[in-house]
Amino acid sequence: MRLLRIFNKKVKFSSIRYYSVVRQGFEYVNEDDVNYFKSVLGERNVITDEEELAIVNTDWLKTMKGSSGVLLQPSCPSEVSKVLSYCNSRRLAVVPQGGNTGLVGGSVPIFDEIVLSTKRLNKILSLDPVTGILSCESGCILEALDNKAAEYDLMMPLDLGAKGSCHIGGNVATNAGGIRLLRYGNLHGSILGLEAVLANGERLDMMTTNKKDNTGYDLKHLFVGSEGTLGIITKVAVQCAQRPNSFHVAFLGLESFENVLKTVQSAKQSLNEILSSCEFMDDESMECVTKNLGLRLPIQRHPFYMLLETSGSSSYHDEEKLNDFLEKSFNSGVILDGTLTGEPSKIKDMWALRERIAEGLLRDGYCYKYDVSVPLSKFYDLVTDMRERLGSSVVRCCGYGHLGDGNLHLNLTGEIFDPDVFALIEPYVYERVGDWKGSISAEHGLGYKKRNYIHLSKSQSAISLMQQLKSLLDPNGILNPYKVLPSFK
Ligand code: FAD
Ligand code: MLT
Ligand code: ZN
Repeated sequence: MRLLRIFNKKVKFSSIRYYSVVRQGFEYVNEDDVNYFKSVLGERNVITDEEELAIVNTDWLKTMKGSSGVLLQPSCPSEVSKVLSYCNSRRLAVVPQGGNTGLVGGSVPIFDEIVLSTKRLNKILSLDPVTGILSCESGCILEALDNKAAEYDLMMPLDLGAKGSCHIGGNVATNAGGIRLLRYGNLHGSILGLEAVLANGERLDMMTTNKKDNTGYDLKHLFVGSEGTLGIITKVAVQCAQRPNSFHVAFLGLESFENVLKTVQSAKQSLNEILSSCEFMDDESMECVTKNLGLRLPIQRHPFYMLLETSGSSSYHDEEKLNDFLEKSFNSGVILDGTLTGEPSKIKDMWALRERIAEGLLRDGYCYKYDVSVPLSKFYDLVTDMRERLGSSVVRCCGYGHLGDGNLHLNLTGEIFDPDVFALIEPYVYERVGDWKGSISAEHGLGYKKRNYIHLSKSQSAISLMQQLKSLLDPNGILNPYKVLPSFK
């Protein structure tokens, strides 16, 4: 198939932009293949239109660009199975794609891999109001599932800024964290079962809805966080949480990072079971959303900010606890300024200041994005260090993130991608995180961009076992090649 002509010429193909990678020996899609796909999926679910392909060949950050010539849109697991079985026998490479909101270049092709979208796998299969277990196909949008759960006073156990477009299958494939992990834990805990289609087309049924099931190896965990390299997730069973009927948000201003750390500790102690989010933003991040998106801060400018959310079953009880905590923190001088609300529209506005930072950063031009786990005592050191290291060679260097989980989002922006700036950032950032025994990817995964730094967070023996598992489940390597595992052996 010919390469696409309509791409934004300013963005280089991913295979040469970050590091050079050579196309593996997969077959090229031909007319017979396209006709086969049409016979299984129907004419209009095999897309070769250049404009539609340009969208799925580009990531959310507009930093990655592939050259796939075919987009497949199956409507049920058995169609996924037929298509994969065919691709495997023809040695055609396939990239599974959900909402395409991933931030590490995992959801887009590097060369001409076929894009298999899960957007038509969007049926909710069941929701048990007593147990709170929801079963659905993997292409359901997270927000749509949460709206459905709300009808039964339930809530999806994860929430993130991309909820309006990311798919539950993509969430599971990336083991997405988000803003309530502090309260509800990660998806290894709340995904009770799943179905995945393996590279050879076999449907692996692990769709249990039992909360407890210790019968042998719990294989579903292999697929949670596998980023499309081991199988295509087609169904999931999720344990929903009870929907709290009271939410409060406090937006705080602080003078020093030392005081931020004191506040995390005291918030966990004082707010305990009602604390559902503990987020952090520096002033540079807030400057970005106010300047680039026109949002308004509810308090004066400060070097650091925190957003604390409480949720529970009694508004009176939660408000009393929160007021108590805030009063003590103000009186001791740890917090300089703050505002508290239980009004839904104000809560939404405060959350926008935190959740829309990623969007605001894109308005600067190009965003170099890092998502790391670091010890809390070092949490902000990486930001100040990078600010000194990069000086005026970047437009912005900011830090925000899921402080309560030790997860920093370090972001640097420039007007355009600059290879010299990039060389100053990587591998330096990853090596510092490695020295601190942190994780080079806390929640976004490795995808294409970070795969060659996996050794800084995983032992060689663990990487070897991952490589063996990949060979076992996908011997022809057709599923999401060039992702997750390093390019060297
Ligand atoms: P995609 O981007 O389409 O795919 C992501 C990866 O999963 C790719 O490797 C793809 O091949 C694979 N994949 C997708 N679907 C399947 C499937 N059915 N089977 C197998 N593999 C599959 N992430 C967080 O962890 N926490 C956050 O707080 C957070 N906030 C975000 C905010 C914004 C504004 C944006 C744009 C992104 C954010 N993300 C966050 C990153 C992203 O939203 C998550 O990783 C999300 O889970 C990806 O879901 P998706 O459906 O868009 O997957
Ligand atoms: C977030 O927490 O806002 C997301 O992970 C996106 C980002 O890192 O910018
Ligand atoms: Zn995040």
